Amino acid sequence: MTPTIPLMRPKLPDREALEPYLVEIDKNRWYSNSGPLERRFQARLAEYFDIDSRQLVCVSNGTQALSISLKTVSRSPVGYCLLPSFTFAATPHAAVGAGLEPYFLDVDKENWALNPKTVEAALKDLDVPVAAVMPVAPFGAPFNIEEWDEFQRVTGVPVVIDAAAGFDTASAGLSPVMISLHATKAMGIGEGGLILCRDNNLAEQIRAARNFGFLGERVAEIPGMNAKLSEYGAAVGLAALDGWSESRAQLCQIATDYLDVFEGIDRLRFAPGFDRNNAVTTCNVAFQDPVASQIIDALREEGIETRRWWNRGCHREPVFAGCQRTSLDSTEYLADRVVGLPFHIDLGKSEIERIRDAVMHVIAR
Ligand SMILES: Cc1ncc(COP(=O)(O)O)c(C=O)c1O
Repeated sequence: MTPTIPLMRPKLPDREALEPYLVEIDKNRWYSNSGPLERRFQARLAEYFDIDSRQLVCVSNGTQALSISLKTVSRSPVGYCLLPSFTFAATPHAAVGAGLEPYFLDVDKENWALNPKTVEAALKDLDVPVAAVMPVAPFGAPFNIEEWDEFQRVTGVPVVIDAAAGFDTASAGLSPVMISLHATKAMGIGEGGLILCRDNNLAEQIRAARNFGFLGERVAEIPGMNAKLSEYGAAVGLAALDGWSESRAQLCQIATDYLDVFEGIDRLRFAPGFDRNNAVTTCNVAFQDPVASQIIDALREEGIETRRWWNRGCHREPVFAGCQRTSLDSTEYLADRVVGLPFHIDLGKSEIERIRDAVMHVIAR
């Protein structure tokens, strides 16, 4: 059955908004390799994040961005990358892409993320070589970059932050922070990503790592690959930035409608960071009881599409099932309770009410 309320309906800049940038590309005949549009996109983004433009690197997608960042910061080219199991498969795939073994840690039940103090304590018990830690800011939740910079200072273990959905909340620190520009994200351009990093030297190395490790001349000096953003990607990015305040307001309005319609229901709570003033593109809800499967089935019957965005944790994905891990009690707890409800700018309040009624039908049983 085709869902009458789809989970997601991304909206990227339309043809009219793209036109002036495409005309420029035709004129420039410069299609990739740090072209003029990409440099402009970089400068505008740096202004948005309030950093020097050298501290922002545009990349071809978020997964590659994580991989090249890990390759650049890792103390050793082999070893373990500590990361949460409660994340999208891209996070451990990126670790493997950087030549590291994923090692899954448990998240905090309250904020769904790794806690730097818990990871610091875990390091003392782990009898394996740890090359890096990759915390995830879940579903665009804010994170405290200073705490992770401090973690790196105290432990000496490099950190790369996966803030894939964090365009509206992320801030730059000394450790690289990745933001995805995938079509499903708030500032979507199709495929693309960003790295923020206040350490100029590290940012320069990451910029080189996305271009075959060429530091100055066309000589491969450090590990790298091709992870550059094309001029066409930058064109969509510039057009998306032109429309950002409007699309941001639309996303915040849908979050506001959800919070209003679900107000007073106490057997569920919204994802950390889901609020009226944070532009995200998913609406994850944690139920008090382990009813995720029932909710998904019941809403499907009503024509409402839902998703466990992160399945049941990456340790349950076949390709990562053999990876080492600590106990993952909170991850299992969340896997039984967290469901992604429909979220897109076409959702009307009456549809959100329909979603609420279908949810209530299950939790009020
Ligand atoms: C938590 C997380 N990390 C990494 C990624 C990968 O980003 P990209 O799709 O740009 O490669 C995603 C994408 O959705 C994600 O949700």
